[in-house]
Amino acid sequence: MDLRRHLPSVTFVLIVLLVLAAFAGILVYAGVYNIGADAPHSRLMYNILDEFRDRAIATHSRDVRLPADLNDPKRIAAGAGLYNEMCTGCHLGPGVERSELSQGLYPAAPELARGDDLSPAEQFWVIKHGVKLSAMPAWGRTHDDQLIWDMVAFIRQLPKMNAQQFQAAVASAPESHEEMMEHMSDEKHDTASKPHSH
Ligand code: HEC
Repeated sequence: MDLRRHLPSVTFVLIVLLVLAAFAGILVYAGVYNIGADAPHSRLMYNILDEFRDRAIATHSRDVRLPADLNDPKRIAAGAGLYNEMCTGCHLGPGVERSELSQGLYPAAPELARGDDLSPAEQFWVIKHGVKLSAMPAWGRTHDDQLIWDMVAFIRQLPKMNAQQFQAAVASAPESHEEMMEHMSDEKHDTASKPHSH
């Protein structure tokens, strides 16, 4: 390539890029974007962010290996308890009334009982790592991979459940690992008194 011949157009492109960057900088600094959760994005912005999120999840979950026992009833039962404790406040469930928390979220937390297009590997990744700039927490900070797979196993069954089946699954869930740990430490500190009902 003859650099001297192309120099004017290269300079022009560089100037355009600089002007655009300066413009973007001014927009950011002026703080004109309404960051409030009660003001939806424009269609274009929404679609860009949606694609950005979907592609990031697809790429990052590429190496996730599924466990062989994802349909094991024991996993599903354990997942029901975890889901009911930690997820219904935002994601609701069959027969669960919309919570105040769920109504204020933007982006909204999808109702997983209505079905979810993510693959099991993608669901695992999202539950473990959470999603930046959304209310979806990274549960991997406090839960090991086995517990996260229990939740994936359960949410894959969720769209097939009606309200009664959902309640029955929650009622028959084993006590979660966390509850067991709490009870163990309660017993250690407080062996004499009977458990109180709160
Ligand atoms: C404080 C609210 C909140 C809680 C609690 C919460 N989530 Fe989420 N979750 C969200 C939001 C908001 C999104 C959507 C994020 C986005 O649009 O990128 C989300 C996204 C997801 C998705 C991806 C769905 C999709 O199709 O994109 C899965 C799967 C999920 N959550 C599972 C769970 C599980 C399992 C739990 C409980 C362990 C949980 N979430 C707890 C708010 C929450």
